[in-house]
Amino acid sequence: MPTPSNPLKAVRGTRDLLPPDTALWNRVEFIARSVFSRYGFGEIRTPIFEDTSLFARGVGEETDIVSKEMYTWEDRARAQSEKAQSLTLRPENTAGVVRAYIEHNLGDSGQLQKLFYIGPQFRRERPQRGRYRQFWQIGVEVLGPVSSGSESPLRDAEVLEMLATLLDELGVKNWQLALNSVGSATDRPRYVAALKAALAPIKHQLCPDNQRRAETNPLRVLDSKDPADQALIDGLPKIADYLDDSSREHFSQVRAALDACGVPYTVNPRLVRGLDYYTRTTFEFTVPDGSGLGTQNALLGGGRYDGLSEMLGGPRAPGIGFAIGEDRLILTLQAQAEADAAAKAGVPHSSQSHRDEWEAPKLDAYIAPLGPERNAAALALARELRRAGLSVEVGDGSFRLKKSFEAADRAARHIVILGEDELTSGILTVKTFATGEQVKIEKAALVDRLKS
Ligand code: HAM
Repeated sequence: MPTPSNPLKAVRGTRDLLPPDTALWNRVEFIARSVFSRYGFGEIRTPIFEDTSLFARGVGEETDIVSKEMYTWEDRARAQSEKAQSLTLRPENTAGVVRAYIEHNLGDSGQLQKLFYIGPQFRRERPQRGRYRQFWQIGVEVLGPVSSGSESPLRDAEVLEMLATLLDELGVKNWQLALNSVGSATDRPRYVAALKAALAPIKHQLCPDNQRRAETNPLRVLDSKDPADQALIDGLPKIADYLDDSSREHFSQVRAALDACGVPYTVNPRLVRGLDYYTRTTFEFTVPDGSGLGTQNALLGGGRYDGLSEMLGGPRAPGIGFAIGEDRLILTLQAQAEADAAAKAGVPHSSQSHRDEWEAPKLDAYIAPLGPERNAAALALARELRRAGLSVEVGDGSFRLKKSFEAADRAARHIVILGEDELTSGILTVKTFATGEQVKIEKAALVDRLKS
């Protein structure tokens, strides 16, 4: 039973986002939308839950996400005409987007589909800073029939260049792009076989997690962070040596286009990523230690998934995309702003101070009715001003004048006093906080005065 000393709380791994932080979330989403529209992307919104088999088939049964982290339940039939169905809260959105692409025959247009999404995802991971059970992603998927150019390395480079532009416009500093090619659907099994063979004699020396991965999903051993295993992992075969000519050529063209755009990157042969659908280009953007993310330093990840549509029963539709962890992006921007403020002032700063930078501007006016009997008139005046495009807060007639002034000074640039005299004469008292000036003006001139 919840009690005042033991009230109900948000579920472990989930968070409430509150003002003023939500102002930063909105700013980030606004900038993302504006960058995406400059690159010709349209928004897609897919359901938050899907048939469980979508993720089992798309993301891969052996991945951590599907085997350990999904929120899955048996949805009972409510009518004879319905069947019980296993449903899952989406742990990621690429599979859902490709399902929608197939379901709505988006490939029939022959055009490249350039889609973006912003929304919550759900994974039952061990919560820590930057890792939540409900988290937000800002993602992009570019896919289409081969004839639309969907397989071209230009698409990979354009997506990466767009990301570099977006992170720069958001003000993320010191980001690093790590790039790799995990090869085509035929390169990968050859490489996995070689990896398994190389792992067999050394497996017993690895940590228990890596021993299990060596059996179930050997590629995952490569991005293990276990310090004791690093030397052994460094000695494993590199995927670059198993790429066929066309994958190798594709990767070199992606790199050449990035070079031409001046987007910096490093090639990381161990970057394989945790989802099964990836082919050829894979990438991650990270920020250096001390950027507010702790050990969760991957701001975003993505790559190509040339066979995903067929895996889900659709037509051939090569594609590439990414998802930014929005929670991590926000933590990074907040930590950066704090560090900047501290550097400027030369002293450690409270987290409140940097908030001014993204907090919504003050309202135009605060209306202070003098006495409860003036409340109705105050609301009517607020309605008039708001309809004229002003941002307005209304106080309450029960407040003492001092309290109204304090509340108004916090919230707004001007206070409008509404007492009996004002109502009968139509002359209003307005104080402007920035200058301290107080004037009496006709109601007809009020809107202009408050805009100033
Ligand atoms: P992912 O690497 O699993 O890829 O997730 C992308 C990003 O989501 C991560 O880099 C991270 O910033 C964020 N993220 C993941 N898990 C959590 C969590 N528990 N808490 C907070 N943030 C998290 C995908 O999801 C792919 N669908 C990306 C993609 C799109 N590939 C191609 N198209």
